[in-house]
Amino acid sequence: MNVQIPRGTQDILPEQARLWQWIENKVKEVTKKYRYEEIRTPIFEHTEIFARGVGDTTDIVQKEMYSFQDRGGRDLTLRPEGTASVVRSFVENKMFGYPNQPIKLYYMGPMFRYERPQSGRYRQFVQFGVEALGSADPAIDAEVIALAMDIYKSVGLKNLNLVINSLGDKESRLEHREALINHFKPRIGEFCKDCQSRLEKNPLRILDCKVDRDHELMETAPSILDYLNDDSKEYFAKVQQYLDGLGIEYTVDSTLVRGLDYYNQTTFEIMSSAPGFGAITTLCGGGRYNGLVEEFGGPETPGIGFALSIERLIAAMEAENVQVDFDDQLDFYIVALGDAAKDYSVKLLADLRNNGFTADRDYQDRKMKAQMKSANRLNANYVVIIGEDELEKGEVQVKNMQSGEQEEVKLSEFIDVVKQWFN
Ligand code: HAM
Repeated sequence: MNVQIPRGTQDILPEQARLWQWIENKVKEVTKKYRYEEIRTPIFEHTEIFARGVGDTTDIVQKEMYSFQDRGGRDLTLRPEGTASVVRSFVENKMFGYPNQPIKLYYMGPMFRYERPQSGRYRQFVQFGVEALGSADPAIDAEVIALAMDIYKSVGLKNLNLVINSLGDKESRLEHREALINHFKPRIGEFCKDCQSRLEKNPLRILDCKVDRDHELMETAPSILDYLNDDSKEYFAKVQQYLDGLGIEYTVDSTLVRGLDYYNQTTFEIMSSAPGFGAITTLCGGGRYNGLVEEFGGPETPGIGFALSIERLIAAMEAENVQVDFDDQLDFYIVALGDAAKDYSVKLLADLRNNGFTADRDYQDRKMKAQMKSANRLNANYVVIIGEDELEKGEVQVKNMQSGEQEEVKLSEFIDVVKQWFN
């Protein structure tokens, strides 16, 4: 039997899971301030959702999807990202009809991509993402970017680079598309097979090619920023104005095209600039996807969002050596000696927990010294010692592990007394 974990996946063991929970709480706290609400969609969808949503000329759809047929012969795919699913749900549940617009949603959960695993790149990874549907106000572009930056700051990251770009509206993109075709066509034979088939279908994707990224035509390719029409220019200027107003620093990079097809107007990525951070520096990516809701059969609805993976966020925290204070104190550890005391401790433990305390005891039948060691290892505030004698007298010894002081407490008053200590 193969007892190894599949390539590109990882177990989150309890010590790491504490950090994950801490991060998840931070992320949710920040997101709540911006009034984004949680949506949970299935882990798998009809393959078409991603082929149409993400775009069938993208690497994700062409090479990276975990697709399968179920027993009913349906073509299904483990979600490689969250936006297509959210838009599917938005249309299916007619959220465009809800009274409060825009609809501001967030999600957090595993995504699956058949990529070459390396540091910061997994085949199963956890994305946190937000989507704001129903507003074409550039202020919401700034809000979404500010939220992403706030999340990173809330976990203590400092070395961040925000890069923004505009892919323009439909009209600008069409003009740029023509220019790209004219630029690459004469020498397309020098490019990989994928790029050759992308030339007519989606020439913008060529700029995102991992194989030909060093070809000299890449550097001289026409910049989208030279093809923005007045509306798109104005829109992009407004986004920048709002970011300036919020004091959020950024650089404009016209080569930022993103790896998914649904983008137009604003796109952005946040990179880690921490020394020692791995080769893949992108922490987070997002942008506007006006037109995607229509693609899924809904009414004309603009949208913008981003997603980040918790794995890369953790890698950035490690690179910046961020220290986290976990609230993992154990209020009480019960040391019970002898059968009657052990029996009694079952009830005492339950009483403590029912009164809101964290409490634990020994289950290995160890000697007093070993039990005290456990209490220390578990960071217990107090150790409650129950022996046969104490039990007969109706009392317990309670040791304050910080001061080392020990006192007797009557069992009949125990909960009331300890409650006062914690007040
Ligand atoms: P994406 O750029 O494909 O965009 O992924 C967003 C983020 O997910 C990346 O910046 C990275 O942090 C993380 N990520 C992607 N692939 C992996 C991987 N193999 N291992 C670890 N982390 C990974 C999207 O997914 C869009 N849905 C974002 C979006 C939402 N755009 C608009 N709304």
